[in-house]
Amino acid sequence: MKSGMIRMAVLISGEGGNLQALIDACDSGKINGEIVTVVSNKADAYGLQRAQQAGIENRTFLRNAYADNQTMDLAIADYLQQCKVDLIVLAGYMKILTAAFIQRFSDRILNIHPSLLPKYPGLDTYRRAMEAGDQQHGTTVHFVNEEVDAGAIVLQAKVPIFSDDQVEDVVERVKAQELQIYPLVVSWFAQGRLQLLDGKAWLDGEALPPNGYAADE
Ligand code: GRF
Repeated sequence: MKSGMIRMAVLISGEGGNLQALIDACDSGKINGEIVTVVSNKADAYGLQRAQQAGIENRTFLRNAYADNQTMDLAIADYLQQCKVDLIVLAGYMKILTAAFIQRFSDRILNIHPSLLPKYPGLDTYRRAMEAGDQQHGTTVHFVNEEVDAGAIVLQAKVPIFSDDQVEDVVERVKAQELQIYPLVVSWFAQGRLQLLDGKAWLDGEALPPNGYAADE
């Protein structure tokens, strides 16, 4: 590993499209970091194959191997600590992390959520946005706190919803944005430009507004 590079863990449950974008951004030098491990809570997550193809260590932690969520998260946290990770990147990790886990890594967990938070935390965001008649949807990269999908927002990307759209159309549009903004935010963190301080996201020494960095405001 080159000096100054941060050590990252990526947590997944499925496809791993965002994981792949992060792997590619590390390989190309866009992110000054190394993914030292990929952790999944699903044995059949396709993202595990992506990790293997990239030669990245990976581990699966299955909920039914543990007495409760707390014990499972403790095992993951101990493993990540052994791996000496500087940043934990949630990329489609579909299990809510326990408070003890989040407190242990409190200023260094990022998540990507497919909505324009604070709108539509939780599941099924596409259907909810379309049923509400929204004309736009999007995705949000944020720091993780103990409340689900509520930590400090770093960056959002918006996409239009057109009247003849099917859900898949909007999903495709949002996912294309995610592959751009997640590596970008992780690159900021890796460069030491992005921090979480007192519950706020700071970029280049300035506290970001509630909806995160806004290029056009
Ligand atoms: C992404 O759309 C992300 O917003 C959400 O889960 C999805 C994961 O997709 N949290 P992938 O596994 O990265 O392809």
